[in-house]
Amino acid sequence: MQKLLDRIGKELESAFVEAGYDASYGKVTLSNRPDLCEFQCNGAMAGAKAYKKAPIMIANDVVARLQDGSIFEEISAVNPGFINMTLTKEFLAEYLREMQTDENLSVEKAAQPKKIMIDYGGANVAKPLHVGHLRSAIIGESLKRLGRFMGHEVIGDVHLGDWGLQMGLIITELGKRQPELVYFQEDFDGEYPTEAPFTISDLEEIYPAASKKSKEDASYKEEALQATFDLQQGRRGYRALWDHIMKVSVTDLKKNYGRLNVDFDLWKGESDAQPYIPELLKKLTSEGYAHEDQGALVVDVKLESDTKEIPPCIVQKSDGASLYATTDLATLVERRRLYDPDEVLYVTDKRQEMHFVQVFRVAKMAGIVKEDTKLSFLGFGTMNGKDGKPFKTRDGGVMRLEHLISDINEEMYRKIVDNHEIDPDEARVTAQMVGLAAIKYGDLSNQATKDYVFDLDRFTSFEGNTGPYILYTIVRIKSILNKYQAAGGRPEEGVIGNAANGSEKALMLELSKYNSVMENAFEEIAPHKICSYIYDLANAFNKFYHETKILVEENETRKASWIRLLMLARDVLENCIGVLGFESPERM
Ligand code: ARG
Repeated sequence: MQKLLDRIGKELESAFVEAGYDASYGKVTLSNRPDLCEFQCNGAMAGAKAYKKAPIMIANDVVARLQDGSIFEEISAVNPGFINMTLTKEFLAEYLREMQTDENLSVEKAAQPKKIMIDYGGANVAKPLHVGHLRSAIIGESLKRLGRFMGHEVIGDVHLGDWGLQMGLIITELGKRQPELVYFQEDFDGEYPTEAPFTISDLEEIYPAASKKSKEDASYKEEALQATFDLQQGRRGYRALWDHIMKVSVTDLKKNYGRLNVDFDLWKGESDAQPYIPELLKKLTSEGYAHEDQGALVVDVKLESDTKEIPPCIVQKSDGASLYATTDLATLVERRRLYDPDEVLYVTDKRQEMHFVQVFRVAKMAGIVKEDTKLSFLGFGTMNGKDGKPFKTRDGGVMRLEHLISDINEEMYRKIVDNHEIDPDEARVTAQMVGLAAIKYGDLSNQATKDYVFDLDRFTSFEGNTGPYILYTIVRIKSILNKYQAAGGRPEEGVIGNAANGSEKALMLELSKYNSVMENAFEEIAPHKICSYIYDLANAFNKFYHETKILVEENETRKASWIRLLMLARDVLENCIGVLGFESPERM
């Protein structure tokens, strides 16, 4: 369905043409003086030079042609040449009626759907998920949902860190504790047990212990490096242990991501890219992209036009080991071969930006991806504590994701039972839903690239620009609809009519922006734009609600029209939070 701004823009364009000016001056925007008008057009000012005429004269010419009153209740030329517009109630109501019957509530799906891979999550196997991984999961998940919502084919890949030193550390530590395990017998050629010799809680203790030892003891670290190397060379017993570590960790990761309403289509990782490394290196060297530098293999990626230093991309260390960049390049080889995406989008901490600049340049330059494959990077800022430093636990340690979630849920639970009488089991479930909204909205409502302060009190508040406030608004709408139905009303039978007052019209105007907000949020990879939209929409609804006695209205047609409007508001809000990755309860 055509966006409201475009629809009005068409009218203006015709009027400009009729008055003898170019159509391109007819662009309409939302008013930046909502106290004066709803929409504005600044084309007369832009055209003044070309037509050597005072802008106000052009504006007057145009305005004179739009006075029939069908679309504009008021349209006027204002000095020095603005065109200010206010819509008729009829025109706006008609737009919303059309929106309500549209299968996507006015949002147009992509005319040419693309295949987009999103690389997000990025958990490291056997290391606990910490709050640093939280942002990637939350932002990536919403971008995946937004892409699908706009009609694209989106594949989410968790891209696990599953091939690094942490694996060698665990194997080494396990070898010290249980040297008798068959996995350590080099001459063993039987079948390895199917049951892992450890649980997730064991792993959670083993990894930090091993990591600590390796920092204090150089020979221990040497052993762990050797174990990593042996694993990567395919030593059978280590490979079998690796399989166990993977299985136990991934089961646990799935549970944790599940609690965040985050799920991946692909559970691939760095290890999956390893088979593509030899051909990658061969291509880079034989085609002359990589050269040797002090025993290492590097690709120069700097360009004339660079304003800052872009160091060469190292693809192989002097000892033959591959690096983070090697794996990411090999993963692009794999992705092209297996999925052939039109676009790959990476969502990581912005401190990894240089790495991706290098990787993207090598990939484009050497034709690892097709010329028209879009490689994008969304780097996010740090989640800080109230002290402005990266978020930590009370005693200064790294906060584990599950602890953060349970802290929020506890706080939400307390608030919900304080608020009113409610069955404790229901309160628990509700607290989880509202808690998730608090975390996700708290994160997504900030522009991704910026750092933000994680403020438990603010995020869990039912007032202000928060997830709980948005849910509270949706629940309020649902409750009115339920009451209407319980009293014998049939919500589907009403028809959205003309706004009866200013706050109703303001609500209607907010609703009409839905399609352009979603389109824009997708184009700009900016979920925070959806958040600010639903905040405005929720405010507009609440203002209307406080000024209007909906259920006691005696004019049944008017009441039914309001109910219909509420249904549209509910559907728009629910769609938006669905894209952001959380849901609303029935009551709270
Ligand atoms: N595992 C990495 C980390 O914890 C993130 C991986 C991001 N994705 C990628 N393709 N490099 O920092």
